[in-house]
Amino acid sequence: MARSQYDLSIPDFAGGPRASGVSRFQAGSAAVTLCGVSKAYGAGSSRTPVLHEVSLNIPTGSFAAIVGPSGSGKSTLLNLIGLLDRPDGGEVHLGGQHVAFRDSTEAAHLRGRLIGFVFQSFQLLPRLTAWENVALPMLHAGVPRIERRRRALDLLASVGLAGRVEHRPPELSGGQCQRVAVARALACDPGLILADEPTGSLDTASGGAVMELLRDLNRRQGTTVIMVTHDMSLAETCDVMIEIRDGRVVPQDEASA
Ligand SMILES: Nc1ncnc2c1ncn2[C@@H]1O[C@H](COP(=O)(O)OP(=O)(O)O)[C@@H](O)[C@H]1O
Ligand SMILES: [Mg+2]
Repeated sequence: MARSQYDLSIPDFAGGPRASGVSRFQAGSAAVTLCGVSKAYGAGSSRTPVLHEVSLNIPTGSFAAIVGPSGSGKSTLLNLIGLLDRPDGGEVHLGGQHVAFRDSTEAAHLRGRLIGFVFQSFQLLPRLTAWENVALPMLHAGVPRIERRRRALDLLASVGLAGRVEHRPPELSGGQCQRVAVARALACDPGLILADEPTGSLDTASGGAVMELLRDLNRRQGTTVIMVTHDMSLAETCDVMIEIRDGRVVPQDEASA
C-alpha cells in the first residue's frame, strides 16, 4: 500500500511537545469514525465474534461515553480506536482520515502522535518515579531529558501532584496513580484521550477528581475524550453516549438511558 494511506498529514512530532494545537484534530471533522468495524478473537472453531459491523461518529472536541454490560465489547472497541489492535473488517478513521498500519511499530508511531491512554489499572511502571513515568512517552518521541523533566513536572503540577514527583507508584494512592497516568497520557499533547474505566478502581472522591481532570481538559483545551464506563450517571453527563450490547451499537431510540 502507498505510504500516503498511512499518513495522517499531521505535522511530525519534530522533537517534542510543540505549541499546543498542532496535533489536534481539525474542528468540524469527526475525531473518530468507525465504518462497519468487525472483530473476532480466536481462530477456527474457537473463533468468537466480538464486534459486529460497528459504525459510529465521535465529533472533535466532544466528551463521549461508551457504556454497556461487561463483556459487550467496550474495551475491544476502544483498543481498535486506539490502534492497539486492528479490525478484521471495516475502517477506523481518526481526524477524518482512514488509518491503517503495517505493523505494531507503525501503529505505535501513529498512536504516540495522536492518542493518550488511561487504563483502569493505571499501568504505571512501578520502579520509575512519577515524573519518569510521565516523561516516558516523551523519551520515545525523542524529547531531550531536560525538556522531558520540565514538562513532566508541569503536567504533574497541573494534576495536583507537584509534591509527589519523586514518589514511585507503590508509594502513591490509587487516585494519585491515576492522576499520574492522566499526566502521562497528556505528555505528547494528544488530540484524543481514550480512558477505559478510568475511575473503575477508585473510591468516589478520587474518581471524582480524575473525572474533573478529564472534563477540564476537554473543556479548556478541546481535547476529545472517549471514556468507557459502567457508571450510567456519569455517562449521562457526557456530550455523546454510545451504548454497546453484544458487540453492536444500540440505536439511540432503543438505548436504556
Ligand atoms: N484478547 C482476547 N482474546 C480472546 N477473547 C477476548 C480477548 N479480549 C476480549 N475477549 C472477549 O471479547 C468479549 C468482549 O470483551 P471486552 O471488549 O473486554 O468487553 P468489555 O470491555 O465490554 O467488558 C468478551 O467475551 C471477552 O471475553
Ligand atoms: Mg472492558
